[in-house]
Amino acid sequence: MIPDDVIEQVRDAADIVGIIGETVELKRTGTDFRGRCPFHGGTHRNFAVIPKKGMFYCFVCHEAGDIYTFFMKRLGMDYPTAVREVARRVGITIPERTGPTGPDPHEPLFAALATAADWFARQLRENTEAMKYLESRHVTMEQAQVQGLGFAPRGAAFLDAMKGLGLREEVLLEAGLIVKREDGSKIPRFRGRLLFPIHDLRSRIVAFSGRILGEGEPKYLNSPETPVFHKGQLLYNLHVAKHGMRKAERAILVEGQFDVLRLTLAGFEEVVAPLGTGLTEEQAALLQRHTAHVILLYDSDEPGLRATFRAGDVLLRHKLRVSVASLPEGEDPDTLGQNKGAAALEQALKDSVDVLERKIQILERKGFFGSLPGRRRALDRLLPTIRAAADPITRDLYISRVAEVAGIRKDVLQREVDPKEQTLTVPYRPLPSLTVLPSSAEKSLLLLMLAGEPWRARVAEAVDAEEFEFPVYRAVFEALADDAPDRLDETAARAYEALQAEGLGSEQPDLLFERAVNRLEARRLDREIARKQEEIDLAPEKEKARLTVEKQALANERNAKRPTWKIIEHARRKGAPGS
Ligand code: GTP
Ligand code: MN
Repeated sequence: MIPDDVIEQVRDAADIVGIIGETVELKRTGTDFRGRCPFHGGTHRNFAVIPKKGMFYCFVCHEAGDIYTFFMKRLGMDYPTAVREVARRVGITIPERTGPTGPDPHEPLFAALATAADWFARQLRENTEAMKYLESRHVTMEQAQVQGLGFAPRGAAFLDAMKGLGLREEVLLEAGLIVKREDGSKIPRFRGRLLFPIHDLRSRIVAFSGRILGEGEPKYLNSPETPVFHKGQLLYNLHVAKHGMRKAERAILVEGQFDVLRLTLAGFEEVVAPLGTGLTEEQAALLQRHTAHVILLYDSDEPGLRATFRAGDVLLRHKLRVSVASLPEGEDPDTLGQNKGAAALEQALKDSVDVLERKIQILERKGFFGSLPGRRRALDRLLPTIRAAADPITRDLYISRVAEVAGIRKDVLQREVDPKEQTLTVPYRPLPSLTVLPSSAEKSLLLLMLAGEPWRARVAEAVDAEEFEFPVYRAVFEALADDAPDRLDETAARAYEALQAEGLGSEQPDLLFERAVNRLEARRLDREIARKQEEIDLAPEKEKARLTVEKQALANERNAKRPTWKIIEHARRKGAPGS
């Protein structure tokens, strides 16, 4: 058993042109290489090797595949042998397990999950409530069956059935299929839910995601983390989409399982979704192995947009080209596909625009570029996206574009973006929680959001998640901004509860808001001043004067924040209303 990541690593390291070129004479044409097809013995150069995608393809006989397929088809090797052969050539050592076909230690888990999936699928066929629900979502039973959906009934029937099939409780527990209650009894984890099986890259079922039929909490329940399921490291439907992505030369990233289902039914194969969390770095890295272009197809409402841009930054960090598709008001990919069909989805995808361009559009629409302070704030929102762009060409294009819309000189913006790449990226990664203590401004903002509307929306609009330095509070902010508190991990959930218990008390919300937003602004300026100082320290003599002037401008802006506070502080102590 060769681990998936080793297989991928070897594939990435292999020089497909060099290896195929040993037996097929190849000539460069543009970015590809052409030769005579060794499979059908062609006489023209119809056989293409595409290094960018790690693939070969014959335009005549349609033989296609990656470097492993090449060895398998040409030399009759089996898969593991082909992998080992390529690994040997690229100098990667593959650890020998106990015998070449030694058993996978997780085999019992996979077996239990597969058995459970079969049983759940049968329940779906036989349960009228589940059938009705499918109907209400415009999915036919046949479609549901083909997609492997299942239904977990209420009660303990599942447990009895699994025991009847000879599965042990410990295995079911480890697979996350049953849970132990406080009194020691065991019950099925999924009860009264429509189940979407989750597959790993080798198409083995590793978990389930269960949607409640109709209303209820939580709307979706996933399997817990198990030895075979790590939800941040897997994308829903990737086992199918990895093939689709190569063909379509793009990935479509949607928010949820129903969106994936709808797009799949509409004929799209290159579609994936994260599993109820924001897109993780690992997931972006997975995508990057299979495609160069990702289209984000999320809801176009506020939380959807926030999630879009957050995912966009993660993808840009992995050098992917990122576009954003917009949906008509009130539609998500599921409803759009349902109501208007595949053509409408394809149109939305075709109309997608680059992620930075989309950000600019939205800021323009909100009038950010109309005033000087507005421009400054618009820049603050665009900078993270520029900085996220790890591909140098994309980054340069972004800098040009933002300089143009914000009406500033490109070299000025360049300096703002680039001087200290290393330190600049730090705030966007999770910080170790012990080194950063919660600030009272961050806390105030969360207390305000917990007080309900209009404060929740006002805070969400005024600050970005990245401005929260305390990671736990940042998580709470994101959950509140997206109205999805049930997605918090344990630590954040505890913080959330503590904040809820504390409440706003007698604080005046408008004063608190002013003060806290001001404080975060000031903190941002402090960071910029510090950065500028570092730049000054490193700059050649002739640059220092100019940089010092820039630093002074920042310092003035920073100082302007102070009196406002004092006035507010003063007013508050006197109990005067804010102004
Ligand atoms: P439907 O209402 O079933 O159409 O779902 P949706 O696809 O419109 O879902 P929504 O936009 O509410 O959520 C998108 C995705 O987030 C879902 O597909 C789930 O993966 C995840 N999600 C939503 N609610 C929950 C929840 O309560 N818990 C967890 N763990 N994930 C959730
Ligand atoms: Mn939906």
